Amino acid sequence: MQRKARVMGGRVLSVASECVPLVKTGGLADVVGALPGALAGTGWDMRVLLPAYRALRAQAKDWPVVWEEADLWGGPGRVLEGRVEGVPLLLLDAPHLYDREGGPYSGPAGEHPDNAIRFAALSWVGARIAREGLTEWKPDILHAHDWQAGFAPAYLAYHGSGGVKTVITIHNIAFQGWAPAHMLGVLRLPGHAFHPDALEYYGGISSLKAALVTADWITTVSPSYAEELMRPEFGMGLQGVIAARGPVVSGILNGVDTGVWDPSQEDPAYDRKAVAGKAVARARLSEEFGLEVPGPLAIVVSRLTDQKGIDLLPAVIPEFVLGGGGLIVLGSGDPGMEGAMRNLAARFPGRVAVRIGYDEGLSHRLFAGADAVLVPSRFEPCGLTQMYGLRYGTLPVVSLVGGLADTVIGANPATLAAGAATGMTFHPVDALAFGKALAQLLEIYHQPKLWAKLRANAMAHPVGWETSARAYASLYERLTA
Ligand code: ADP
Ligand code: GLC
Repeated sequence: MQRKARVMGGRVLSVASECVPLVKTGGLADVVGALPGALAGTGWDMRVLLPAYRALRAQAKDWPVVWEEADLWGGPGRVLEGRVEGVPLLLLDAPHLYDREGGPYSGPAGEHPDNAIRFAALSWVGARIAREGLTEWKPDILHAHDWQAGFAPAYLAYHGSGGVKTVITIHNIAFQGWAPAHMLGVLRLPGHAFHPDALEYYGGISSLKAALVTADWITTVSPSYAEELMRPEFGMGLQGVIAARGPVVSGILNGVDTGVWDPSQEDPAYDRKAVAGKAVARARLSEEFGLEVPGPLAIVVSRLTDQKGIDLLPAVIPEFVLGGGGLIVLGSGDPGMEGAMRNLAARFPGRVAVRIGYDEGLSHRLFAGADAVLVPSRFEPCGLTQMYGLRYGTLPVVSLVGGLADTVIGANPATLAAGAATGMTFHPVDALAFGKALAQLLEIYHQPKLWAKLRANAMAHPVGWETSARAYASLYERLTA
């Protein structure tokens, strides 16, 4: 009898709290939104389950209802199916949980006090859809992202998986989904799960830990971060849990959407002809910000937080400016850091400019027109802006952590001799090392041939999704084999 060859591919339910183009606070959204398209061609059909936040409900009002539950923590929940800009979506419409003013996690009065329940509900519905399937679509794999989806693998593990395999991807270990112990029952978790070997975490419950102990596989968004996570300096309390599961932990680097981040293409938002037109784009940018910078023009496009090392800028930028450099910062976050950035701009008019806020169009103009992008992160699971920098020939200056170390080849005698360098790297993450990297940037900028070589190397460095999509596909294959 002839055995039928196994058909490669299958179905994946991706569960997440953010997804481009609908809702984004950080790189998580970019990755969740890009994966279904990146997997097309591998045979893996991915759909994204996402809460129907207020702004999303209107878009989905005519979408068919494909799933319902009468009591989802105090109100009905229904799942609407549709597509936005090619991304196949399942929107969880539960107005009592998600139809609120503000962003995905907070409103005008700050963080929502019921976030544990709001995202437990998302995870619950993800687990049920995975186990029972929709009428026309039954997943083979549930792929959860970060703490918001952390209970999904746990619900499958504790309430029956129906044969579905689970993956948790850690985008950032700093957010762990903590809830007090007395919520165990409310969160529909069994008593025996409240155990140090299960989801008990420092006397409470962590949805991320729940996923780390129950998922069939754990990935994070770069190979270096996968190793770092097992060490106390980076594991943020969960290093032991992750190390114990070492054999099922792997790092798969994020890609960037090379259609959206494409310096050679026109775009309604801006002329992105950065490669041929770097000088033109830089001149326009300088005019827009009223800058006159004789040396390299650097940018920062980032959340302004401790993670991102933004507090190091006031210590290093004065010398960089004295050396001829300039800086534009686009970002928002910590009020103290926002103030410090404004002070820098006030201190160096014509050389440093700051835009507090979130502006996608401007971020494109910045990468197109600048010479370098600074990413001095204390930890960086992957990081996307250094990859935009590579793609646009906007040389990345990065600390040697996580995904930054995996994507940028720092200039030094060996990498310069080999013609491999794509940017500047430094460690440890302090002002001294960062300042040296900026001095190196100034030095190389004034050697036009070398500068051109580095830019060419950077732009030739692959940053698309191809390799990583294949890595996810082969992980899914392995799990379902
Ligand atoms: P993280 O997710 O930790 O914030 P990433 O580098 O993975 O870091 O992703 C950040 C994403 O958000 C990138 O796409 C970056 O361009 C974008 N971004 C961050 N801050 C801003 C801003 N102020 N305006 C526009 N885009 C921003
Ligand atoms: C997180 C990390 C960032 C990563 C992004 C997408 O927000 O901080 O490094 O690129 O997730 O995976």
